[in-house]
Amino acid sequence: MGKEFDVERVRKDFPILSRKVNGKRLVYLDSAASSEKPASMINAVNEFYKRSYANIHRGLHTLSGEATELYEHARKNIASFINADPKETIFVRNATEGINLVARSFVAPGLKKGDVVLLTEMEHHSNIVPWQMLAKGKGAVIKYVPFNDEGFLDLKKAEALLKEKPKFFSFVHVSNVLGTINPAKELVTLAHKYHVPVLVDACQSVPHMKIDIKDLDADFLVFSGHKMLGPSGIGILYGKRKFLEKMPPFLGGGDMIKEVSFKEVSWNDLPWKFEAGTPNIEGAIGLAAAVDYLQNLGIENIEKHIKEITTYALKKLSKVKGIKIYGPKTAEKRGAVIAFNLGDIHSHDLTSVVDEDGIAIRSGHHCAQPLIEKLGLASAARMSFYVYTTKEEIDLFIQSLEKTRKIFKL
Ligand code: ALA
Repeated sequence: MGKEFDVERVRKDFPILSRKVNGKRLVYLDSAASSEKPASMINAVNEFYKRSYANIHRGLHTLSGEATELYEHARKNIASFINADPKETIFVRNATEGINLVARSFVAPGLKKGDVVLLTEMEHHSNIVPWQMLAKGKGAVIKYVPFNDEGFLDLKKAEALLKEKPKFFSFVHVSNVLGTINPAKELVTLAHKYHVPVLVDACQSVPHMKIDIKDLDADFLVFSGHKMLGPSGIGILYGKRKFLEKMPPFLGGGDMIKEVSFKEVSWNDLPWKFEAGTPNIEGAIGLAAAVDYLQNLGIENIEKHIKEITTYALKKLSKVKGIKIYGPKTAEKRGAVIAFNLGDIHSHDLTSVVDEDGIAIRSGHHCAQPLIEKLGLASAARMSFYVYTTKEEIDLFIQSLEKTRKIFKL
């Protein structure tokens, strides 16, 4: 456990939170889309540019050595955050790239016409589109585990579908729309019972809760750095070594090779086999600094803070006349997002009105169009929270929502 969690002290670490938007204090309630950044992370990237910048793994000069050390140290740091082996921890651009890599290098080679890839109805586009692209080319079929009215997956149906032996199962740990925390360990265990390899999209969980990959036992896990105080353009694909070793590389180029001749090529060892070309060195260093920051706050403290804020926001929001909230009713089984609609006000209009008050929320289909359609909606508004969110900000948002209601005569 880190030291005592003090949200006001935390807020001082985020330079952007002192700016004004439309003459009002910024109330940032869009961290599920991308989080804001602490000064320590910004400084780490800055210092790297100022002191040690060079390409990695290539030069014998001092700066290249320093850059390589920083990059590989970052990998170790991030790997240990999820209790993974650094050799099983691959730097990618984001979770989307990680899923595409697994689809192309692990699933595609053995996928035949009529084979099934199993997903859930609450996936982000990043965990639907790569599979649809793959299935189309191979004549494979995609099936979806349904969710019920309260936003929980039908676990009986999940087992029935896994019993049919799909080639692969890929599911989201925490829904970016419903907020549902899926029982990841239970689902992984279920998949393994039927010898189905499984990927967990942990984009909305790794930033907020303790993930121990050895305990979870997922075969693959992906997350993006920009949702956990790190830079954008950097993310992690974790994969079990026994699978990664057998998989062909996803992209070809420099750094992922051992030897190249005019006729042949041999692959580099893990994890570099999957990191073609000059990587996002500063991104990796920034993400490691973000991980340091999160660890210093204490992941248990973060989880507790977010639960408190989500409980408070659910209570306040449910009292607003005309509100419809989607997903689990209590914060217990929810991550840090609340999607809703207010009467028949379009979520884009609502977002514009609250923006006038300096409040940032997201609206639209949240890159989960099938889910939004299943709810019978065209769009929804969404507030999301992180380490710097306060109850006072929730109150300001509720005030702005009441103002919106009046403007639209609801
Ligand atoms: N996946 C991000 C979101 O939910 C972009 O907003």
